[in-house]
Amino acid sequence: MTRINSVNENGQEIDPKVAVSPTAPHQLADLLQEIQSQANAFTNGDSLARLQLVDSARALVRAMETPQEAMLRACWAEPSYFAVIETCIDLGIFRLIAHTNEPKSVADLAVVTGASEELLERLLKHLATMGALVETGLNEYTHNGLTKTLSLQRYSDAWPAINGSTMGPVYALPKWLKENNYKSPTEGKNCPFTMGNKTEYSFFEYINGKSADYPNLGPQFNNLMSAYHQGRPSWMDKGFYPVKEKLITGAKSGSEDVLIVDVGGNKGHDLEEFKSKWPDAPGRLILQDQPHVLKEIRSLNPAVEPMVHDFYTTQPIKGARAYFLHSILHDWNDTICQDILKKLVAAMTPGYSKILINENVVPDRGAHWQATSLDFIMMIDLAAKERTEKQWHNLIESVGLKITKIWTRIDSAESLIECDLA
Ligand SMILES: C[S@@+](CC[C@H](N)C(=O)[O-])C[C@H]1O[C@@H](n2cnc3c(N)ncnc32)[C@H](O)[C@@H]1O
Repeated sequence: MTRINSVNENGQEIDPKVAVSPTAPHQLADLLQEIQSQANAFTNGDSLARLQLVDSARALVRAMETPQEAMLRACWAEPSYFAVIETCIDLGIFRLIAHTNEPKSVADLAVVTGASEELLERLLKHLATMGALVETGLNEYTHNGLTKTLSLQRYSDAWPAINGSTMGPVYALPKWLKENNYKSPTEGKNCPFTMGNKTEYSFFEYINGKSADYPNLGPQFNNLMSAYHQGRPSWMDKGFYPVKEKLITGAKSGSEDVLIVDVGGNKGHDLEEFKSKWPDAPGRLILQDQPHVLKEIRSLNPAVEPMVHDFYTTQPIKGARAYFLHSILHDWNDTICQDILKKLVAAMTPGYSKILINENVVPDRGAHWQATSLDFIMMIDLAAKERTEKQWHNLIESVGLKITKIWTRIDSAESLIECDLA
């Protein structure tokens, strides 16, 4: 029995102790040194060091965790954590605990929510072990930053948005790939999304009211979109993309002239951010998206003009200074991206208009987990992908455009790709 368990399918003998020993203990000393120096830099005000510290701390956990512990974390802890958080969002647990600085007892929460005390004890214990709550006593909890964040719908909507659209498809990926000769999907209507949700609808059709169990997927997805960009360095910030020199200088300032068209701009968060950071920039700011998305907007900076537009059709705004595409092209295969881009190329004024693409540029080595995991979400939901620099060049140059420069910051998952007519 021991021998069967220690010989793999190549007939290779693996010492069974490997599964229950730290994965890479030889890295310990170097990682501790890195962590110490990044922690010092962080406490001395270096904001970049925080992200490096988090990455090093994760590397330390991976090095010291045994493979068996990594297996349990991946197979038990993380999937159940996801489901427990969504259940507690439904019950209003995070709101109730974030509401007061006094610890809350499970007994009180059971009375307010109507959930059984026995169930709540189990739910909250798991939340505390995974870090979404702080245990202050026997069946008593208080909040931390994550608890407070989960009390805000803008963030908590990520859980139903993902469970209602993406979780079934994530677990369908191995089956889909096996049945399709291990080739990446390329059609939104034949991909893990359609298999996992047992639907004929593609992602954007489905989230627009087609799920019986999750009828609010569209608004929940839109909140996820706006929360995804929070706290990230933005291309509009000083020291990233030279907005003044590249966009504002030389921009036409007549009352009809358009500075930026945000194509597929969702509820306008990017243009609102632009207006708040560059209040004196000349020209109109046009927000384009589908009618059901624009209908959801409750408040919008009056400088931003919403316009219903399907990006597969002729671009009605001609000669804008910039056509901006944020997290759009990663939703589509190359052929559809070419169609979307060609519509913009036809509207551009040579020597004046540019296209700004705000997306991940996946590095050939040392990619960050945020980019690699999003690559799989794009593959699973939309038969699409996050692109490498070479793939961006191929796509953009195939439609009569050229990349003038790619701006990337090491603390940013997303780059700004500036394109001119070739
Ligand atoms: C991944 S979201 C990105 C939203 C926004 N640019 C951002 O970064 O937050 C994709 C957007 O494309 C929009 N979209 C999908 N199909 C579209 C179409 N045919 N025409 C216009 N917009 C569309 C969706 O409604 C959604 O707002």
